Amino acid sequence: RAREVSERIVESGVLAVLRGIDEDQIVPVARAIHDAGVGALEVTADGTRAAEQIAAVDRELADTDAVVGAGTVLDAPTAASVIDAGAEFVVAPDTNVEVIRTCNRHGVLSAPGVMTPTEAVTAMEAGADILKMFPAKTVGPAHIGALQGPLGDVDVIPTGGVSPDNVADYFDAGAIAVGAGSAIVDYDAITDGDMDLVRETAASFVDAVDD
Ligand code: 3PG
Repeated sequence: RAREVSERIVESGVLAVLRGIDEDQIVPVARAIHDAGVGALEVTADGTRAAEQIAAVDRELADTDAVVGAGTVLDAPTAASVIDAGAEFVVAPDTNVEVIRTCNRHGVLSAPGVMTPTEAVTAMEAGADILKMFPAKTVGPAHIGALQGPLGDVDVIPTGGVSPDNVADYFDAGAIAVGAGSAIVDYDAITDGDMDLVRETAASFVDAVDD
């Protein structure tokens, strides 16, 4: 299943990061972003009730081929909890081998955050499926090739500061997909309850990925 989930993320091209969204808005926001053409949604686990939110989004998109996972998973108990709630992948900003091993035990894709070769190798040796290059904005697209030089053709998803303006550069540099939060999730529109605008903003990002 982890391989299928990985393929689904690659097909989507973008992993949308949903962070700090209210209980009553998470489902319509997820639907709007999926309707925009996003096939991979990450609900972050830093807020309260992350497991419930993941389960709710999972239910909402059950009739689609979208994959729903968890982000900002900083420890193994949180990984176990979000996997129990139905997370199909687990993303983190850091490299935590216990989180990676918990995912492996459950056959769930893990994408730990890495910046340096040491972190990348630690993550790969622990069994990580994909490396989230984070924060991408401080190093830029060239960092992907620089890591792949000595490490081979590892699957990298740059995240942090990826926008419609620079997304093509990350794909040209070898990204298998990108992660995006503020540039794809229109938080002002969410505050206004304008789900049409949420969809349109996400669709603009998807257009940039497809170009
Ligand atoms: C996050 O921390 O929410 C993600 O890494 C996304 O970052 P971004 O808002 O810069 O895309």
